[in-house]
Amino acid sequence: MAQVIGGITTSHIPAIAIAIANKSYDDPYWKPFFDAYPPVHEWLADEKPDVAVVIYNDHGLAFFLDQMPTFAIGAAHEYRNEDEGWGIPTIAPFAGNPLMSWHIIEQMVADEFDITSCQEMAVDHGFTVPMQLFWPDRGPDMPTVIPIVANTVQHPIPTVKRCYDFGRALGKAIRSYPEDVKVVVLGTGGLSHQLDGERAGFINKEFDLMCMEKLVSDPQSLTSITRHELIRQAGTQGSELIMWMMMRGALSDEVTVLNQNYHIPISNTGAGTMLLACND
Ligand code: DHB
Ligand code: FE
Repeated sequence: MAQVIGGITTSHIPAIAIAIANKSYDDPYWKPFFDAYPPVHEWLADEKPDVAVVIYNDHGLAFFLDQMPTFAIGAAHEYRNEDEGWGIPTIAPFAGNPLMSWHIIEQMVADEFDITSCQEMAVDHGFTVPMQLFWPDRGPDMPTVIPIVANTVQHPIPTVKRCYDFGRALGKAIRSYPEDVKVVVLGTGGLSHQLDGERAGFINKEFDLMCMEKLVSDPQSLTSITRHELIRQAGTQGSELIMWMMMRGALSDEVTVLNQNYHIPISNTGAGTMLLACND
């Protein structure tokens, strides 16, 4: 049977892709950010997951305001990246895992989570930046991918509780897949940021650190945060915390923190990185 071995979170700020393209890893400005990743690379090289379930939010590339699924799951053979206008290089397509995607979609719908299934889905920086951070070489051990998108773009976005419950059902769906595959679950986005409006540039480090701590010790407690409260505390784009909740829900109840980092790099976003191993 499939096994969920752990989860990894990261911000997906497009400026990171520019720093990667410029190989700015040792630049004093970027070093405190990139220092979080070598321990993740080592863990991935040891564990060699077969499949990466990548939970992110599309920002208008695959879905736009006219068609906005609350939750979408990719079931494609491969996933293309496209130019979104950030000035970041587009990268080669990623191999999908349609058999496992359909298994997850079937199980999620049976569990009463109504899914938009996508046999074609362009992947934006919310997906590609984390993949570049975690698998910079895209070597022979590169896992196949199953992208999962949650709506953070257009009201009404799903509640924090719904996202955590989604993650719990997702974990169950993954573990019921009959093949012996090792699965890592990624949660991308966040932490606090607001890119526009009167509070543009708003960051709430205290809230971010509280969320990182509770995500490990008591994720259920975060489900009482309402969407309005989340945006008040974390900024409009800080709603991206919901992807972290989906990721956490898919892991075992008890997890071990193997690595953790919080840094506020260029741009407007509190960048948290966490590597969580499942204890079961
Ligand atoms: C930034 C952060 C994001 O989450 C995003 O999707 C785009 C830009 C930023 O901080 O610049
Ligand atoms: Fe984003």
